[in-house]
Amino acid sequence: MAALNSTEQVAVIGAGAMGVGIAQIAAQAGHPVKLYDARPGAAAQAIEGIDRQLGRLVEKGKLAADARNATVARMQAVDAIEELADSRLVIEAIVENLEVKRGLLRQLEELCAVDCILASNTSSLSITSLAAGLKQPRRVVGMHFFNPAPLMALVEIVSGLDTDPAIANGLHALAGAWGKKPVHTRSTPGFIVNRVARPFYAESLRLLQEGAADCASLDALMRDAGGFRMGAFELTDLIGHDVNYAVTCSVFDAYYGDFRFQPSLIQKELVDAGRLGRKSGRGFYDYAEGTERPQPAELASATSIDSCVVEGDLGVASGLLQRLQDNGVSVSRRDGAGLLRVGDAVLALSDGRLASQRAREDGLRNLLLIDLALDYAKATRIGISWSADTTEGARDQAVALLQRAGLKVTALADIPGLAVLRTVAMLANEGADAVLQGVGTAADIDLAMCAGVNYPLGPLAWADRIGVGQVLRVLDNLQRDYGEERYRPSLLLRRLDAEGRNFHD
Ligand code: NAI
Repeated sequence: MAALNSTEQVAVIGAGAMGVGIAQIAAQAGHPVKLYDARPGAAAQAIEGIDRQLGRLVEKGKLAADARNATVARMQAVDAIEELADSRLVIEAIVENLEVKRGLLRQLEELCAVDCILASNTSSLSITSLAAGLKQPRRVVGMHFFNPAPLMALVEIVSGLDTDPAIANGLHALAGAWGKKPVHTRSTPGFIVNRVARPFYAESLRLLQEGAADCASLDALMRDAGGFRMGAFELTDLIGHDVNYAVTCSVFDAYYGDFRFQPSLIQKELVDAGRLGRKSGRGFYDYAEGTERPQPAELASATSIDSCVVEGDLGVASGLLQRLQDNGVSVSRRDGAGLLRVGDAVLALSDGRLASQRAREDGLRNLLLIDLALDYAKATRIGISWSADTTEGARDQAVALLQRAGLKVTALADIPGLAVLRTVAMLANEGADAVLQGVGTAADIDLAMCAGVNYPLGPLAWADRIGVGQVLRVLDNLQRDYGEERYRPSLLLRRLDAEGRNFHD
């Protein structure tokens, strides 16, 4: 199937948050759109709502009045599902219930022409199950938009077992023509985004549970060092803990209790307490008026540092050296195992071992570990931890050096893989398994995470940047330290490392 011609009619069923946005996108792309909702009057109201919203854009000078009028003129509210019969593509965005959606698809199959494509915006149901029992399961495909649909670029094109690849390809092209960034994925629990994103929440929750740092410090590290728009606590407060916890539970159950996806008791307790986040006034943070947001913890030093010594290659953290030099620190180099020495202190990028364990195993005194940053040349904050034998003086020298580079320094307890590094390693691990299992290509997985949840870099491209071998080492060490399945490295990481390849070679 070629992409739908922009004059061909699209039907959207369900005039809720998602259906309305999808109808608007299709109409803006030029299609005549029919909108239907089982609730009488809902579709007409929704179109009035779109008209008002586009009107505000016209007032702000962001949209031409003609474009607004033309978009709205292309949309028609219908009161009976039968009126959708002449559509070329039907996208359903009704209640997330398998039996209800199946009933609707059966009805559509009877109603619409044989070449009409039946797409579902489901975020969690199996496309294979939705299509099962239909006469033509080949024409059922997932078209998973993100909320708010007109603003979010990603669309996951989801193929069930029987979906015709030509139909999936056609919808992929159509979403592209609508200005979206489509990716192909297979009908597996969570598709790409809701699966690969799980560790982003899970690792912060785990770090909090184990006393690595407080919420504000962990959020600040994810933002200021990791380059994410928000940390996991502020983000789940925004999403709503009931919603985020339900998605985690559904993915966990769908993967037969795979510990990679294990929900967090901390989050469950918030849900139990009714602390659902912003919408209930309180989640991890308190949103009551006049309440101040807690500040991230910071270490400060008044010590003056002028020089340091680099031994060997600091790997992905090498950007730190230029930054130190730019700030007037003299950096001398010699061979070694990737260490940065300042006074009595020894700094190294974490490899997933506890600082105390690494200090003992490698025979290092006063060892401080540095967390991952998206870009060491631009980060504004960095996380550190240290071995139990580290003196206050050595720690102070290390903090002074990092401060000299213009970094705020946030302390973490001695925890394997620190915060950003273990989160990114686990995101890459999940992305790797998704590639291994044919859920998506490495390029599509990276695109999905950037366009769907605004990651600053795709997790697999990030793994390439860190080094596949280093990511594997971090995971191996996490698994050894915790003794848990949760941290088991993907076979694909091990294979790429053994072959000396990257995800994006
Ligand atoms: P919503 O509750 O805002 O809207 C659903 C609409 O469907 C309601 O207006 C309801 O009256 C109508 N409806 C229910 N059963 C119907 C039926 N049998 N026939 C016709 N209309 C019917 O729901 P929302 O949030 O728009 O979600 C819709 C779908 O999109 C669900 O499958 C959901 O999983 C999926 N989705 C939701 C996202 C979100 O962030 N809200 C994101 C991506 C997908």
